[in-house]
Amino acid sequence: MAKLTINITVNDKKYEKTINPNLLLVDFIREELKLTGTHVGCDTSQCGACMVMLNGRAVKSCSILLAQLNNQEIKTIENLEKNDELHPMQEAFRNNHGLQCGFCTPGMIISAISLVNENDSPDEDEIRKHIEGNFCRCTGYQNIIKSISEGAKNMKDLENN
Ligand code: FES
Ligand code: FES
Repeated sequence: MAKLTINITVNDKKYEKTINPNLLLVDFIREELKLTGTHVGCDTSQCGACMVMLNGRAVKSCSILLAQLNNQEIKTIENLEKNDELHPMQEAFRNNHGLQCGFCTPGMIISAISLVNENDSPDEDEIRKHIEGNFCRCTGYQNIIKSISEGAKNMKDLENN
């Protein structure tokens, strides 16, 4: 298989890599960069545990080839905490018990931030619709909805200060 070279930025760090064209983004993130906060919960592109930000929008990293991402920018869950402070959406999940085992949480939080980037005051229906592609086996979703609602408010407050 002919290799190819790509440039990619992950969590503000630039990489130039020679790769196999069939390398999945999630395998690059987890196995090569050792950023294991991005999880793999299925092999059918359904669960959303693998979500990362691609140019500010949540994508399922198990469904994208690294070869498609030349000169693109990726951010993972590890990039959210700054100066020892949680991102407002992470804080809201903590405050509202928006997780139990935590397996779905990185993807859920990335998905939630992507929603708020497009709609800074989502109502409950909009939140439920948006997270249709994120599965949680533990919480029953109620506290996740509360968390995203509070996180959206916190993100908006931070932006206005
Ligand atoms: S691991 Fe990507 S959607 Fe499940
Ligand atoms: S908290 Fe366990 S899968 Fe969501």
